[in-house]
Amino acid sequence: MKRDFLRLSDFTASEYTALFRRAAELKAARASGQIVRTLTAKTLLLLFEKNSTRTRLSFEAAIGQLGGTAITLPMQESQVSRGETLADTAAVASRYVDAIVYRTHGDDRLRELAKSATVPVINGLSDGGHPVQILADLFTVTERFGSLRGRIIAWVGDGASNMALSWIEAAPIFGFTLRISAPEGFRPPKAGIFETVNDPSVAVRGAHVVTTDVWVSMGQEKEAAERKRAFSGYCVDEALLGRALPEAIVLHCLPAHRGEEITAGVLDGPRSAVLDEAENRMHVQKALLEALLLRR
Ligand code: CP
Ligand code: NVA
Repeated sequence: MKRDFLRLSDFTASEYTALFRRAAELKAARASGQIVRTLTAKTLLLLFEKNSTRTRLSFEAAIGQLGGTAITLPMQESQVSRGETLADTAAVASRYVDAIVYRTHGDDRLRELAKSATVPVINGLSDGGHPVQILADLFTVTERFGSLRGRIIAWVGDGASNMALSWIEAAPIFGFTLRISAPEGFRPPKAGIFETVNDPSVAVRGAHVVTTDVWVSMGQEKEAAERKRAFSGYCVDEALLGRALPEAIVLHCLPAHRGEEITAGVLDGPRSAVLDEAENRMHVQKALLEALLLRR
């Protein structure tokens, strides 16, 4: 039976412990120049219906460094854009490759593809979540603070973005406190184990991590003006960060818009962990690919 990674609840807390341990090993191996070839002759297909820099690069590098090959197919160049079904695409692709990463819009499309694929499917970002990014974020927090349990994560900005939704899904699995500060109309659509804090400066008080996301996600371009107005009081700036713990770090999945959701001073400043966070995408995704392809 193949196993997918479409959302964070597809793995258990103890599986994540093993995954992060393996990601740390793979990170150390790469740092010391050790070659790891656990996925020799494996092929990973990447399907994109939205733009990408990190997801494409980190998965391509991950499979390549582990001895396998990546095939990247922007969906607008595929027969799907001329009406071929996702089901046929998934069934055919499964005859060629060992796993599929899919970046799409609605989660219904993700589930549809996963249903017809006989190889593991990984969510490479959908409207409902960005689980591989959150894995890198969580791993980055464990590197800095040793553990997630009992830490305070403050989310400032779009409380309904795919990133926010995945943070909400992660909170009960990993046992951290999640505070969400978002303007009315942009709060999480579903209940979960998080605190809603109206004032961002109250939300970040005592926080170990301050994190945010773009105000206009891919697919929301038409709402840009309205969103920029609504989020104007929700910029992660130096004053806001000054209210978090002195050892607090700043995370942002990138791409960022300096001067909108975050200032250049914070994003490029000493407390920003965004480059480690981006790098860690590759290490945790290597561990994830091993887990799904080798059933580790
Ligand atoms: N963070 C992230 O997923 O970046 P890309 O959109 O560049 O893949
Ligand atoms: N919320 C953003 C994340 C980009 C990686 C988007 O969906 O555009």
